[in-house]
Amino acid sequence: MLAGKRVLLIVSGGIAAYKALELVRLLRRAGAGVRCVLTAGGAQFVTALSLQALSEEKVHTALFSLTDESEMGHIELSRSADLLVVAPASADILAKMAAGIADDLASTLLLATDKPVLAAPAMNVRMWLHPATQANMASLRARGVAVVGPEEGAMACNEFGPGRLAEPPVILATIGRLLGQAGPLAGRHVLVTSGPTHEPIDPVRYLANRSSGRQGHAIAGALAACGARVTLVCGPVAIADPPGVGVRRVETATEMLVACEAALPADVAVCAAAVADWHVANAADRKLKKRPGAGPPTLDLAPNPDILATLSRPGPSRPRLVVGFAAETEDVRRNAAEKLARKGCDWIVANDVSPASGIMGGEENAVLLITAQGEEAWPRLPKQQVAERLAARIAEALGQ
Ligand code: C5P
Repeated sequence: MLAGKRVLLIVSGGIAAYKALELVRLLRRAGAGVRCVLTAGGAQFVTALSLQALSEEKVHTALFSLTDESEMGHIELSRSADLLVVAPASADILAKMAAGIADDLASTLLLATDKPVLAAPAMNVRMWLHPATQANMASLRARGVAVVGPEEGAMACNEFGPGRLAEPPVILATIGRLLGQAGPLAGRHVLVTSGPTHEPIDPVRYLANRSSGRQGHAIAGALAACGARVTLVCGPVAIADPPGVGVRRVETATEMLVACEAALPADVAVCAAAVADWHVANAADRKLKKRPGAGPPTLDLAPNPDILATLSRPGPSRPRLVVGFAAETEDVRRNAAEKLARKGCDWIVANDVSPASGIMGGEENAVLLITAQGEEAWPRLPKQQVAERLAARIAEALGQ
């Protein structure tokens, strides 16, 4: 995906510097050449030797090395890359970039370059939220510096909030976009279900649930941003369509299944919809009336088709990767693992939707991703970031 592209990766100080090693590995695997510059702060957390082993190139640290200047001046180093990436970008290096300070190799390269720059900030939440850092970010963005993250979540310093380095696959996807690549999911078709379903009781009443569609819509948008052609089959929602996505609107579970089957073939299916388990078998075609002396109507419930289980069934039109969701109010891990086996999907994204969690209909999500390789508990993140991580994981899985 990045064959022939050259990235100059500046690793500044911070506990997240260890994730730069993973980023180098992903960039190399994507075919990019990577040259690393390690600041004095960065060298407190990772070694030049590790970066050198992974990048297979000499790692630069000092501003004026006689050998470097004779082989390749620092100006040349800053210009020989297609993109400069600062990951992690500490509050200090961002301040230097904003102020135009050039007092070490990294800051000098950033001032001397004529190439696009991507910063992936990582720092303590208070440092990130400090007006000085926010003003620096505003001026860097205004100058055209691209920014990825920081993510929100539990931090190494035991605080919670924005400040975590974006995950390496998310940084990789951003690099791909900045370098005009087609995206890691280019040429793939992904089917996403989202939102609730409405099951009519009569022409004016229905059974529904509290799903807002926010998580499924964010996933559809994040997959499209990775270059996939996305078909979003969604139940009734009050939120905007994600950009760049083909939307099929449905009302009931049965309509959702028909729309999903019509959208096949797909490389991946992500079933994030909160599909009603039952529909009203004796739904009335006229509005039910209260009658004096008569009791309330009795609703006969009949099971709905299980869309996830249907899409997961082995056969020529089964998507290569089928991802289900498990919204649970108790015993999340056990119920989710059981669901993975029962429905025959490949991954389950499980979350706690008990009222105390505030997740159902809210802005954030805390998920447990269960795959054949094991499980990963993700920190509580905005639904957009959960979507970006999931899209990056899907791109990674399909690339293997
Ligand atoms: O069985 P449960 O509803 O808890 O399973 C949740 C998962 O199954 C979600 O991925 C949801 O989209 C999917 N599902 C479905 N069709 C149904 C019920 C659930 O696709 N009828």
